[in-house]
Amino acid sequence: MLSVHGLSAGYGRARVLFGVDLDVADNSVTCVMGRNGVGKSTLLNTITGLITATSGQVTFDGTDITRRPAHARVRAGIGYVPQGHESFAPLTVAENLDVAWEAAGRGPRTLVDGALELFPRLVPLMGRHAGVLSGGQAQQLAIARALVTNPRLLILDEPTEGIQPSIVAEIEEAIATLHARGIAVLLVEQYLDVALRLADTVTVLDAGAVVHSAAREDLSTEQVQSLLAI
Ligand SMILES: Nc1ncnc2c1ncn2[C@@H]1O[C@H](COP(=O)(O)OP(=O)(O)OP(=O)(O)O)[C@@H](O)[C@H]1O
Ligand SMILES: [Mg+2]
Repeated sequence: MLSVHGLSAGYGRARVLFGVDLDVADNSVTCVMGRNGVGKSTLLNTITGLITATSGQVTFDGTDITRRPAHARVRAGIGYVPQGHESFAPLTVAENLDVAWEAAGRGPRTLVDGALELFPRLVPLMGRHAGVLSGGQAQQLAIARALVTNPRLLILDEPTEGIQPSIVAEIEEAIATLHARGIAVLLVEQYLDVALRLADTVTVLDAGAVVHSAAREDLSTEQVQSLLAI
């Protein structure tokens, strides 16, 4: 479904990614892991078009999207929840969902109902401003905003970062449910246990390059721990 080949990117003269190869198969969960600052968010931002690749290729369903603008990638079916769960603070929860739904080209209205079914905690908050939500509520809203764009591939950058444990469990369950519904997932996840329960494939980045990639069943927790301790 998603194929990343030889991808390099950076900020001005600072190079961050060095020839990253990554594949996300249909209906699979790929988890990207790595220590702070190795380039995980830069990779996701380059895949989604927020950063321009300096070389390499991003292919989605066989189409080269490397030079396409971010909004075209959303319309092609790539939903993105960036790190830090930001929404439009002055808008209400309902307005945030509407803006995302409209921007993606107004798919069926049932997309909004579906997102709220997945995150029922948002239902009583629909009239509240996004800026006053708790971290966990804001993360659920950020994921719901990506879902109303009707993604076939959902990309999530540390969706459990700074979130209380009960909500972490809800977010894990929501990702598992989306996977069961046939959505492919590319996930950056800091909690090893959550990542290893969800992942079909684990890719470890270090210093902007892939240092290991394997099917989940071929990796022990200890192996992943030692790869992350590089
Ligand atoms: N906007 C930016 N301008 C310049 N350098 C940046 C920018 N964003 C990130 N960097 C640098 O790029 C490198 C990779 O950062 P990135 O955010 O991709 O790492 P990460 O693996 O997502 O880290 P974390 O686990 O902390 O989220 C770091 O050295 C970081 O300082
Ligand atoms: Mg990051």
